[in-house]
Amino acid sequence: MTKDEILVGQKEYLFPSLFHYFESPLVIEKAKDQYVWDTDGNQYLDFFGGIVTISVGHCNETVNQKVRAQLDKLQHVSSVFATEPQVALAKKIASITPGGALTKSFFTNSGSEANETAILAARCYTGSTEVIALRHSYHGRSSLTMALTAQAAWRLGPVTQAGIVHAHNAYCYRCPFGMTYPECGVKCAHDLTELIRTTTSGRIAAFIAEPVQGVGGFITPPKEYFPIVEKIVRDAGGLFISDEVQTAWGRTGKKWFGIEHWSVVPDIITSAKGLANGSPIGLTVAKPAVADALKGVQISTFGGNPVTATAAKAVLDFIEENHLRQNAADTGAYLRGGLDELKHKHPLIGDVRGLGLMQAIELVDDRTSKHPAAAATLAVMEAARQQRILLGKGGLHGNVLRITPPLNITKTDVDEFVRRLDASLTTVTGV
Ligand SMILES: Cc1ncc(COP(=O)(O)O)c(C=O)c1O
Repeated sequence: MTKDEILVGQKEYLFPSLFHYFESPLVIEKAKDQYVWDTDGNQYLDFFGGIVTISVGHCNETVNQKVRAQLDKLQHVSSVFATEPQVALAKKIASITPGGALTKSFFTNSGSEANETAILAARCYTGSTEVIALRHSYHGRSSLTMALTAQAAWRLGPVTQAGIVHAHNAYCYRCPFGMTYPECGVKCAHDLTELIRTTTSGRIAAFIAEPVQGVGGFITPPKEYFPIVEKIVRDAGGLFISDEVQTAWGRTGKKWFGIEHWSVVPDIITSAKGLANGSPIGLTVAKPAVADALKGVQISTFGGNPVTATAAKAVLDFIEENHLRQNAADTGAYLRGGLDELKHKHPLIGDVRGLGLMQAIELVDDRTSKHPAAAATLAVMEAARQQRILLGKGGLHGNVLRITPPLNITKTDVDEFVRRLDASLTTVTGV
């Protein structure tokens, strides 16, 4: 097909709710390592990785060799049979969860399904149905996970799920209480007590949060936040669910999981995206007692599929063998330095935040009013396309640029990216 045929076909044969970046959608033809190419042969430095999914570079040869071998050996039997790849992956995950405490996995096909499974398990374990999520969160596109999500744009149709309330998030740049950290005493965390007393029965099933809010624009809570929240949640009988669809597998630097930066051991962790470097996967891993409470029978036709499980195990091994958690910390700090320098130069940048190789810049019309620069953000995205770099957009107001390259990029890649991002910002602002 030609590029035009693809674009016309996309309009004619796919749901229009599938949203695209750019005024004229970019048609990608192939990818390798940190690069993708469009159908016109242009090469882009990919610092978004298919929405935080390409952990170890596009079409990683080490991973793909193992996938090809598995494809020729056993592709699919469904979860009603036992297979080695699924068990090997679950065993590996059990060995790296925080404190080694989460040891039982349930595999599905997406982050949405992973979160569905987590909420179901928490409800079965506690006997309560009430769940607390955070404002500005994103948890998926199923009925339940849209109800957990707290950004209007991602809550389609009438959201009808009862029993979910949303706490204020720790958005220090735009504090929901108009306060400043640390003088605020982390009021957003303590406010959970009031929320539970006033909007729930007092006994909750779970609290679910992304350690760093992804679609929300890489909102990164202060160090006290999750430990305070954890205590309040446990006092109300709830489980702590860490949605690590974006933050797991070394993305945030040094640690396997984002929540480890707050020294909290969750009862359930969910993940997807970067776990299999592009093969569809969902993971719900729980403490044994929580997993055991999910009584009755379930199947997941593709969950734990031998090919996908092989890909995921190969990704984890590759991250470990190539010390990519450390690289995410080191190269992430280097990237952060580059972004901080851009902030000095460009008044359009109001905030720089994130952890490891999960960094964002929030764009504002002026730094005093902090009015979200949504139009300028779109313009910077277009300019970045011309500079042949890819990055993501996010934030409730659509004014955050999200930067999540593969974990095995080098400082040279970062230099190149920052140079081209600088040029993109200059195109829009003239600075
Ligand atoms: C934090 C988080 N949770 C859940 C999901 C849903 O994952 P999926 O799109 O695989 O269903 C996403 C997707 O972006 C996400 O970022």
